Amino acid sequence: MIHQFLAGKLQLEYVTVPIDALPQRLAGLRIVHLSDFHFDGLRLGVKLLTETIAQANALAPDVVVLTGDFVTYEPEPILELAPYLAQLQAKVGIFAVLGNHDLELSHSRELITQTLTRWGIQVLENAVVYPWGEGLAIVGLGDYWSDLFLPQRVLPAIPPQVPRLVLSHNPDTAAILRKWRVDLQLSGHTHGGQIVLPHIGPVMAYARPLRLSMPRSIRKLLWRSTHEVVKHWEWAQGLHRVGKNWLYVNRGLGTYLPGRLNCPPELTCITLVPAATTAPPPLAMAEST
Ligand SMILES: [Fe+2]
Repeated sequence: MIHQFLAGKLQLEYVTVPIDALPQRLAGLRIVHLSDFHFDGLRLGVKLLTETIAQANALAPDVVVLTGDFVTYEPEPILELAPYLAQLQAKVGIFAVLGNHDLELSHSRELITQTLTRWGIQVLENAVVYPWGEGLAIVGLGDYWSDLFLPQRVLPAIPPQVPRLVLSHNPDTAAILRKWRVDLQLSGHTHGGQIVLPHIGPVMAYARPLRLSMPRSIRKLLWRSTHEVVKHWEWAQGLHRVGKNWLYVNRGLGTYLPGRLNCPPELTCITLVPAATTAPPPLAMAEST
């Protein structure tokens, strides 16, 4: 359970992202983004969940996206979580991808996908949908740590002029996806770093450089069993530019050991606007003869 006093209350983050070639009819399109529920009776309470859903609905979003880690280990809590998620209201629907925790057991993927689908939430696994026709695509990718991360199967098939949102649980994928056009990647996974010091940021961002600065023998002793959550801690939360692509990382709602400090659970409201087109160079005046 999140200790609200240490973590902070639910925070609604507003983000505006410029999108190249976004049709004028989609200017101002509003996306609600939620991530990392870890709904298992320990890491996310029903009170925070229902408060988040009420706030999300008050935003009247065009679309809701969910970027994985619905559960932590056993997948069965999805049976209780999905009816809550189905209360989210969006004009064109709710789209989801699975995270690494949704693939923990051999039956997790199937149970979670089937349950979400039954409640009207569309799970995208290396799939693309066009809820607004050819104006904007939504792509969902399989989790990076599994053999289901197959961007090459889906991204090249999208007409190049069509802007696209890409849902990918783990933000490390941005380093790979930068070779394709991804107008906005939406991720979670990091929980914002969970322990965040004022003026310093997520402490985990310092673990990797610290480890690499140590002699190999000491490194092995100290970190042999440490599991690396993510390589790019600099993308632990918020909006980033990766090559020409935008990446937004949501801090999530649930938590994980050792808990959160100064890292509030997050509900994100993203507004898309057409990128300002650069004015063409002035035409050279024809010389009068
Ligand atoms: Fe997570």
